[in-house]
Order: sequence, then structure tokens, then C-alpha cells
Amino acid sequence: MASIPAFLNGEYLPLDECRVSVLDRGFIYGDGVYELLPVYKNNAFYLTQHLERLQRSMGEIKVDSPYDNSEWQALINNLIQQSEHDDLAIYIQITRGVAPRDHVFPSATQATVFAMANPLPIIPSEYLENGVELITSNDIRWQRCDIKAISLLANILAKQEAAEASAVEAIMIRDDYALEGSASNLFLVRDEVVYTHPKDNLILPGITRDFVLELLEELGIECKQQRIPKEWLYSADELWITSSSKEVLAATKIDQKIVADGKPGEVWRKTYNLYQQRKM
Ligand code: PDD
Repeated sequence: MASIPAFLNGEYLPLDECRVSVLDRGFIYGDGVYELLPVYKNNAFYLTQHLERLQRSMGEIKVDSPYDNSEWQALINNLIQQSEHDDLAIYIQITRGVAPRDHVFPSATQATVFAMANPLPIIPSEYLENGVELITSNDIRWQRCDIKAISLLANILAKQEAAEASAVEAIMIRDDYALEGSASNLFLVRDEVVYTHPKDNLILPGITRDFVLELLEELGIECKQQRIPKEWLYSADELWITSSSKEVLAATKIDQKIVADGKPGEVWRKTYNLYQQRKM
């Protein structure tokens, strides 16, 4: 198998040769942020938006960006060139660096920068034909879900709960509202209007979410960014999840209940088709 191209602290090397200290604050505390961006036919998709979100995440946790946007861009392009695949999922992680264990920020550390270019996972055709299954899960995450933090314990527990129920995603429920998935954003169609949670501290501002909002506008479909009551999930005409790796998927079951007629809906189909045209 070909090696996965990677980057660690200024050096390009194969993934299996990357090493970091156990005192890295990413390892000790989950003290870092990340970004995951898709590459289609060797072109990074919505690169500017992903880099803006990465810079914002670093700013929010008070880590100085080691690179400016053109340097990040060069790093990403180098990984794309080194990969033998044309469709990739580029993962970038920045931590507060290596220091003796102490909760307080170290006075002088250099951020650890790691990136790798994995082949973009293929979306199973069955997901597109039949839709996917969801569960709901009590949202026990912190109150800054807008930061793309590497500390993902609550998300992982929710995703595992979904996997154990043979579902693809867990929808996070807080105060009886459905916010987003454990690793995706949520859209709901009700009486020909599409709903998604507004950008606030309780969700990750998904780049795919923004892209889908643009597609809906182009399609002339009404969309409201407002809170979604949990009970709407069970009477929805359509439910979708969006993310960089899942694109836009229709859900046809939630908590073992069938969504509408149990097939991916028409609004999803139009959106999905336009997505495929526009993503290249
Ligand atoms: N997850 N919400 C959460 C909690 C996420 O982790 C993600 C992405 C999204 C969708 O964001 P975007 O459209 O920018 O991918 C929403 C990535 C894919 C991951 O952690 O692997």
C-alpha cells in the first residue's frame, strides 16, 4: 500500500514516520484544534473558508498561527501533489506544543503542526439509494462547539452510541432542540421549508452547511436558520446531515422511526444533484 503523505513541524514525511512527544499538549490535554477539508480532482474545496475557520479556531484557543494563509495553502498543495490520489481528505492539527504538564499555558512553546492527506472515503451507494439511519443523543458537549477542537470525547461517545445502534450518526439534543450531528450538521425539511440551526456557540459552523445553504438559494428553496425542536425530527418530511466527508446525506430513519415515506426526499435529491455539479 502506498504511504500517506504527511507534514510534521516543517518536514514532509510519510505518515508512518511521524513522531510527537508524549508531552505534546494535544496528547496530554487535547489542547489543540483541527480542520478537515476535502480535495476533489486535486483541488482543495472551499479552501479559503476552511483556512478562515482554522485561523478562527486557533484565535479562540489563543494559539498563534504558525503560518499565514499563503503558507497554509502551499502546505496543502504540497500534500496534494505528493499524494497519488486525486480525491483527498486533508487533516490538519495544531496543538499548543510540547511542555511539562501544567494546565497553565507554557510561556514559550512552539505549536505542533501536523497534517496528512488520506484518500477521500467513498460514500457507499447504499447511503444514497436508501438513506441513512440516525439516533438522537443527549448533548453533553461543552459550550464552545463552534471551535473545531481536537478534544472530541463527547462527540466520540455519541458516535459510538450510533454505531452500536447500527446508525450512521447521532443527532445532539440540548434542551429539547436538535442541534447537529456528532460530526455533521443537520437540515430538516418541513412543509417545503428547509431548517438548520443558526450559527452560534452550540454548533460547528460547517463549511458544507454554508455550501448547501448557497445551493438552496440557487434552487430557490426557502431556508430558515432557526432552532429545531426535537419533536420535529419525528414528523419531518426530510432529514439530512452534511459534512466534508459525507457531503449531503438523506436520513430515512431516526430512533428506529421511519422518516416520511422512508425514501430519500425530492428536496434532498435536487440539492444532492446540484452539489455533485458544483463541487468540482
Ligand atoms: N466533522 N459538526 C461537527 C461537530 C463536525 O465535527 C463536523 C465535521 C461538522 C461539519 O463540518 P464541515 O461541513 O465543515 O465538514 C459539523 C469532520 C468531518 C470530522 O471531524 O471528521
